[in-house]
Amino acid sequence: MDEYRDLLVNKALEARENAYCPYSGYSVGAAVMGENGTVYTGCNVENASYGMTVCAERVALFKMVSEGCRKFTAIAVATADDGTDGVPCLACRQVMSELRAAGEVPVYDCDPSGRVFRHTLDELAPLPFTLSDGGEDADE
Ligand code: THU
Repeated sequence: MDEYRDLLVNKALEARENAYCPYSGYSVGAAVMGENGTVYTGCNVENASYGMTVCAERVALFKMVSEGCRKFTAIAVATADDGTDGVPCLACRQVMSELRAAGEVPVYDCDPSGRVFRHTLDELAPLPFTLSDGGEDADE
C-alpha cells in the first residue's frame, strides 16, 4: 500500500525546487501516482494577482488529467522544513476527492529534512461535495 511512498516523496521534493512563489516565499511540490503507473509532478505557481495562484497539488493533478489519466492512487506534498505537517489546502482536497482511485489513497506530507507525515484522503476529506449523477462524462 505504501510501495510508492519514497518515490513520490523524492519527486515532490524535486518538484518543489521549481516553485514559483515570489509573493509568499513558500515553496510547495507535489507528486501523484496515476492509476496508469505514471508519476505526475507540480509546484505552486503564484501571480501578482494573488487569487490566481494555483497550488502544487492541483498543478500535478491537472497535468495528470490533461495527459489522459483520470485517477490517482497516492500523492506526496513537499512543504517547508519548519516542523509543521504541510497538509493540502481544502480546495486541493476537493479536487483530490474528484480524481481519487477507489480504496485507500495515502497522502504523504514531507519536507527537505526527511520528515514524512502520512494521512489518508478519507481522513483529510471525509465529506467532499459531489453531484447526484456521480459526475459521469457526458460523452461516455
Ligand atoms: N500552497 C500549495 O501549493 N498547496 C497547498 O495545499 C497550500 C498552499 C501554496 C499556495 C501559495 O503559493 C503558497 O503555498 C502559500 O499559501
